[in-house]
Amino acid sequence: MHEITLIPGDGIGPEVTDAARAVIEAAGVQVQWDVRPAGMKVGEETGNPLPESVFDSIARTRIALKGPTATPFGEAYRVERKTKRADGGAETRVYPSVAIALRKELELYANVRPVKSYPGVASRYSGVDIVLFRENSEDLYLGRERMVDDDTAEALKIITRGATQRMAKFSADYMQRLGRKRVTIGHKSNVLKLTDGLFLKTSLEVLAGYPGITADSRVIDALCMELVLKPESFDCLLLANLYGDIVSDLLAGVVGGLGLAPGANLGNDYAMFEAVHGTAPDIAGKDMANPLSMILSSVMLLRYIGEAAAADRVDAALSKVLVEKRDVTRDLGGEAGTKRMTAAIVEKLQKH
Ligand code: NAI
Repeated sequence: MHEITLIPGDGIGPEVTDAARAVIEAAGVQVQWDVRPAGMKVGEETGNPLPESVFDSIARTRIALKGPTATPFGEAYRVERKTKRADGGAETRVYPSVAIALRKELELYANVRPVKSYPGVASRYSGVDIVLFRENSEDLYLGRERMVDDDTAEALKIITRGATQRMAKFSADYMQRLGRKRVTIGHKSNVLKLTDGLFLKTSLEVLAGYPGITADSRVIDALCMELVLKPESFDCLLLANLYGDIVSDLLAGVVGGLGLAPGANLGNDYAMFEAVHGTAPDIAGKDMANPLSMILSSVMLLRYIGEAAAADRVDAALSKVLVEKRDVTRDLGGEAGTKRMTAAIVEKLQKH
């Protein structure tokens, strides 16, 4: 029996996490779910979008499956965590979103986002099979901004040698486990000579210590162009936090959309699995969301907890549903709702 923290999230979050939960259970994996709501709705109801009970739960289970959580666009929004310091004093750390707060507080420094072409999914490309490694703990994405005066805003971009070394090493070790051989580092060190320069130089130094891995690099804008022209020619990508966020969605589009983009946030002590997509407010509550990104994130979770056979069964079941095309959601050209697509995957799992 595995105990897993489940954060349903906002918008389509509850719909797609319900789907993932049903599929994991249909795969025969015994799970005790500790459901811990967090997100904008929880914040509106309680004044705190990220209750301490979420951290208490993950401290025990060490693993979370998280639905997307909403963050308002361009408005002031704070997610706070109050803790006690060793000397008894209080400390409050502030983050721009629930997802970032969880990643930082749990030291989930590595974001792994595999992207691949699925048979049966109409897209402009075939044969795409990329693993994107996104540094998850620093860079502009932490949202450290301030108004200098009424007309000027500034944001802090921090890149450290230590976090970059840790991430490059994580990526190389992960690649070795997967048998992957080539990694391309994306950067803008022609302009951001110090920050991106440090990321590039440090990553290359670490990767040079892995004789079985070839590392090369591209300026981030040229990398985007090449990913659109010939995505099938890339193996792995190593990117700082903000570029990783943007390129993840670009690659999701390359293989058929945000409904097919899973992810894992990993650290030394904890793991949190979540889809690349957000809360999709335009389709929330309408039984229209594609549940596959969350189900594929669950496949990553199953492999992480040592349930590889169940992960393979889920992969096979969802691939059959994609190839048959009968029970797929609208974003994939079908007419099924979230529930029908999930039921079709569950049915395949029960038959085999
Ligand atoms: P989004 O990913 O929610 O939606 C972008 C577009 O993709 C929308 O048209 C949406 O309908 C579609 N889409 C997304 N997931 C889909 C799915 N599973 N099936 C079918 N269509 C899908 O991005 P957006 O609109 O920029 O953000 C909405 C909210 O989500 C914001 O509050 C944002 O902060 C939050 N967000 C949260 C994340 C997290 O918790 N990790 C990640 C990204 C965004």
